[in-house]
Amino acid sequence: MLSNSQTKRLRADATGQRDAFVRAVVDGLSRPQKSLPCRYFYDARGSALFEKITELAEYYPTRTETGILTTYAREMMDGTSSDSVLVEFGSGSSRKTELLLRELPDHAAYVPIDVSTDALAAATARIARRFPRLDIRPMLGDFSELSRLPNDFKTRQKIGFFPGSTIGNLAPAEASRLLLRFKSLLSAEGRLLIGIDLKKDKATLESAYNDSLGVTADFNLNLLAHINREIEPVFDLESFRHAAHYNAREGRIEMHLVSRRDQRFEISGHRFTMRAGESIHTENSYKYSVEQFQTLARCSGWTPVRVWEDSEALFSVHELA
Ligand SMILES: C[S@@+](CC[C@H](N)C(=O)[O-])C[C@H]1O[C@@H](n2cnc3c(N)ncnc32)[C@H](O)[C@@H]1O
Repeated sequence: MLSNSQTKRLRADATGQRDAFVRAVVDGLSRPQKSLPCRYFYDARGSALFEKITELAEYYPTRTETGILTTYAREMMDGTSSDSVLVEFGSGSSRKTELLLRELPDHAAYVPIDVSTDALAAATARIARRFPRLDIRPMLGDFSELSRLPNDFKTRQKIGFFPGSTIGNLAPAEASRLLLRFKSLLSAEGRLLIGIDLKKDKATLESAYNDSLGVTADFNLNLLAHINREIEPVFDLESFRHAAHYNAREGRIEMHLVSRRDQRFEISGHRFTMRAGESIHTENSYKYSVEQFQTLARCSGWTPVRVWEDSEALFSVHELA
């Protein structure tokens, strides 16, 4: 179970994040191509909707990556020191993590990091029940702003875990900066296990982000609902529709919220207008070939060591050192 002080600290950290949310929304909506940062998908409802997405027939990444981890977790954790620390970036439900934690020695520790208070609290509580001897130190916040880990882990071997192709949400230059930051966070001897969605045919990619049940559409629209709940009630959700397509030139899926009509709205004293058909760009999901990702890793201070793929080459898990 989470201690009372851990729960209190998680809630207190959350209040400090509202101002940053307002600034990010106003900044994004002030650009010529309106945009919103995709990390704000993940309030409690967004995290729950993401879990539903992972179970959809069309959404191959989660089951494929889970399959790779199930088959190779032991190999991935081989040679890990007895007091190693597993640091997970964007831990969400921490479900895939259990596959690695099972292979970790007794004195290991786990640091789940996420922006979603509810997802982090629920996952930490579940992991604590399943692994009662594990030292768990949840950290609420933005992994791209994190500059250090708990002090007492300084001399212990760190293994970073960054599954779900979450790095694909960043443009390659930003992804490279994040990988460099992780290198200094995990220290020179640290390793990183990172899940990368692979390039594939447009139809498979587009159907993964346009599911027939409309769960991805709800997930996308929830970004506006999150603003309505947390900042102020601004958006009429009926006035927007979900759109997702593969941009082959950029090698990425783009998600947008398209305005169904001309509209005006005001957020925190800032006025905005949208024409019918104009969109808010809400997410990118970059796809890589194994070679492209290894090149990016090399340019970001890491050395590719091993890579595991499924038999259909849909998804890959890379070990970097
Ligand atoms: C695509 S989900 C992946 C969840 C899980 N790791 C998995 O593989 O199933 C992305 C997760 O990263 C979190 N996240 C996204 N951006 C983040 C950021 N900048 N800092 C911390 N967490 C972030 C979200 O809250 C969400 O739980």
